[in-house]
Amino acid sequence: MSTHPVPSRVQEGSPNPITTMHAWRETWMQAKNDPDAFWLAEAHARVHWRTPPTEGLRGSYHTVGDGPFSWFADGRLNVTETCLDANLGTRADKVAILWEGDTPGENRTLTYAELAAEVNKAASALVSLGVQKGERVIIYMGMVPEAAIAMLACARVGAVHSVVFGGFSAEALRDRIRDCDARVVITQDEGLRGQRTIPLKATADEAVQGEKGVTHQLVYRRTGADVTMVAGRDVWWHDVVETASADFEAVECAAEDPLFILYTSGSTGRPKGVVHTCGGYITYASYTHQTVFDLREDDVYACVADVGWITGHTYIVYGPLANGATTLMFESTPLYPDAGRYWDMVERHGITIFYTAPTAIRALAAMGDDFVTRADRSTLRVLGTVGEPINPEAWEWYYTVVGASRCTIVDTWWQTETGGIMITPVAPATPVAPGAATLPLPGIQPVLVNADNQVLHGPVSGHLCMEHPWPGQARTVWGDHPRYVSTYFSTYPGRYFTGDGCRRDASGYHWITGRVDDVLNVSGHRMGTAELESALVSADSVAEAAVVGYPHPIKGQGVYAYIVLQPGVDIGDSVEVWQKALNGVVRTRIGAVARVDKFQVVPGLPKTRSGKVMRRILRKVAEGDVSRLGDVSTLADPSVVDAIISGAGLSG
Ligand code: PRX
Repeated sequence: MSTHPVPSRVQEGSPNPITTMHAWRETWMQAKNDPDAFWLAEAHARVHWRTPPTEGLRGSYHTVGDGPFSWFADGRLNVTETCLDANLGTRADKVAILWEGDTPGENRTLTYAELAAEVNKAASALVSLGVQKGERVIIYMGMVPEAAIAMLACARVGAVHSVVFGGFSAEALRDRIRDCDARVVITQDEGLRGQRTIPLKATADEAVQGEKGVTHQLVYRRTGADVTMVAGRDVWWHDVVETASADFEAVECAAEDPLFILYTSGSTGRPKGVVHTCGGYITYASYTHQTVFDLREDDVYACVADVGWITGHTYIVYGPLANGATTLMFESTPLYPDAGRYWDMVERHGITIFYTAPTAIRALAAMGDDFVTRADRSTLRVLGTVGEPINPEAWEWYYTVVGASRCTIVDTWWQTETGGIMITPVAPATPVAPGAATLPLPGIQPVLVNADNQVLHGPVSGHLCMEHPWPGQARTVWGDHPRYVSTYFSTYPGRYFTGDGCRRDASGYHWITGRVDDVLNVSGHRMGTAELESALVSADSVAEAAVVGYPHPIKGQGVYAYIVLQPGVDIGDSVEVWQKALNGVVRTRIGAVARVDKFQVVPGLPKTRSGKVMRRILRKVAEGDVSRLGDVSTLADPSVVDAIISGAGLSG
């Protein structure tokens, strides 16, 4: 394995206690030997507590069936006091949020003092709408500072936010509103990305239509579009927030009170509402953000994710603000007005830490180096990637072209459920290898297991599990703890199963190989095959559908759908129209974020005699490799396989 050492400029003046591999090893062992002491010390040092905790972990993976485990359970706090109030002493005039709008150079800044005042006003407004501690509030917005303000305002009043990505449809939004029983929805007139408008308010209106439980929508005006405001239900942000009091006493919460719910796709059923709690999550967000990226006081930190995903929660809002950083919020796309947008922003704002996803790196690499090299990137020090395995070519491009071989790359592996980064280089310490997430952070104990839940040692491939809870780990699934237990703790009892496959090399580095369950990762977006299939079979022409992923040069994975038509349906030569219509159904059911790339009409699905679809075969065909299909003798009708292979234009 060839590794790149950490460039010396990355190590110079680092305040990070982990600047050598020796320090990493020492800290990792210390955290393993006494997790409670390690995490309590971090919690005390990083978090502004009203009552500091004396207790570390209570419960375990073995007892999770009896109820959630907890961290810091006797601690009391309000998370926003760590993110806002604690910064007002020395950082009141420091920029907290640096916003870049859709048009290049369209900027807004909010200092810590200004952000704290805005959050207080929004909290006052929420209370005036009747929002109480513990109740759920849906946030359906684009990348405007008010999205972060809305999240923090919920946290300020002790309400539980659930941000729904703006690319989800009215149906998907309604499902989430119902699942968490939200009464208030915060949205905006329209989103704006690359001069394209996204009708957020209209979609929210459709979602709440007939939903008696929703009493209010709080609407931020972004584009000034003409939207319908229902009297008594809908209120403008500028009417109720801008006029509200900037004095607001944060509501005290228990460490284990929920901070937010985030819906994420799994291998079966509908998306799950993953629950993160106040004390453990904020400790972990702060610890990982500072340690991994080697944060310094004058950094300009930019994570170009969306707040609708966990990356936006932990590494745009909570982690950076808990650490008193300047965090960028970016409304537009990397391709608007051209493929140089990110690097132009690096030059204009003097960005020092930049965090994005492999899919964006691949798309931008394909556009050529000139878009990068035309911008001054000399301020960059740390480059991060997240969301999917990064191929070595994309990694090298990021390292040599974007970072001019002077920056280090942190390939950060983690999940919605983990709350924060788990396996990653620590910027000033870890020699990096293209495509490797490298080593676990202190406090994180990964193991690779085989199908019999036996721990595998040495250089080996296996299923990635965790041995011990950490403070940022999701505690439950909203309203369905048994589902949490069965999803994460039943495959390998006594361990947390991540759903990922992983190879460990001779130096102990981890190379994530991707999901081993029926979850797809398309452009870094997590998608359940079951959700896509249930959308497809809702179309009149479709009798059965099976969805698998296949390698896609930009998106990482593409979506391949096998369709069995209803008897009597003949799509004849209107294939394109039919496919478009099916994608229309997917868009309505799930949202613009979901789309089938390839359709194949098949006479039947390869099912075992007990009726289970053999996805292994479908995956192979979608990948265009039918050389080793394995044993098909258990299929109810093995001839289906030949038809599928020839229908795909392959030969067996
Ligand atoms: O398969 C892994 C992949 O993304 C999954 C988690 O998706 P989600 O919950 O949406 O969170 C994405 C952002 C944290 C994981 O199970 N994944 C995430 N980061 C990496 C990755 N795969 C390889 N390398 C990564 N750095």
